[in-house]
Amino acid sequence: MRRTMVAGNWKMHGTRASVAELIDGLRGLVLPNDVDVAVFPPQLFIDRVIKGLQGAPISVGAQDAAVESGQGALTGEISSSQLVDAGCKLVLVGHSERRLILGEQDETLNRKFAAAQASGLTPVLCIGETLEQREAGQTLEVVERQLNAVIDEFGIDAFVNAVIAYEPVWAIGTGLTASPQQAQDVHAAIRAQLAQKNSEVAQGVRLLYGGSVKAANAVELFSMPDIDGGLIGGASLNADEFGAIIRAAGN
Ligand code: 13P
Repeated sequence: MRRTMVAGNWKMHGTRASVAELIDGLRGLVLPNDVDVAVFPPQLFIDRVIKGLQGAPISVGAQDAAVESGQGALTGEISSSQLVDAGCKLVLVGHSERRLILGEQDETLNRKFAAAQASGLTPVLCIGETLEQREAGQTLEVVERQLNAVIDEFGIDAFVNAVIAYEPVWAIGTGLTASPQQAQDVHAAIRAQLAQKNSEVAQGVRLLYGGSVKAANAVELFSMPDIDGGLIGGASLNADEFGAIIRAAGN
């Protein structure tokens, strides 16, 4: 059985004051014990979030990590082994904001994915189509290509210790959520693609949906058979709303 996961991607939000408030709010949540919960703060705040959440059943991850796993001369970057040393468990790889705004390509993302696993972090591979691609009927083709970039290089076993987040770009931060059926259709296609290589891996990997998830739409999304939780942006910045989404994922 796959454990449900709800993760909050704080993106480039937060000040020392607002992060302290969010930590307090998260610590105060009563969480279901059948949901894995994680937050991805900006790198600047990772240390204080890990300290602040000590003892709470919430993992901390990074929004990005360097293409190399170890330390070295790479100005401005943070390596996955440094993140492990800080207490991180997970790292996002290939969020659409990094693919589209910063121009990260599959080759770079594959190096980040591999470096993360080599250090013992679980990569959360983010994939999804733009509005133009959806309207052109290319959704499944785009997602398949993004997934194959990893499978072709590392094989299907790369997904034994990884999470996949399907985040349609047109649903991110727009208030437009994919309907539960739209999301389920893509999740089912992702799982079928993985199953062609190895059905056990396909059944074990968690597929999160991301894109304007809120407490009000979470239950319906999470009740779909191939949606194993969510990657939450804006709504994860409010502890009460995030808590309600987490409870929606519990049984
Ligand atoms: P929103 O929930 O703000 O749409 O963001 C989703 C997202 O990009 C999570 O990584």
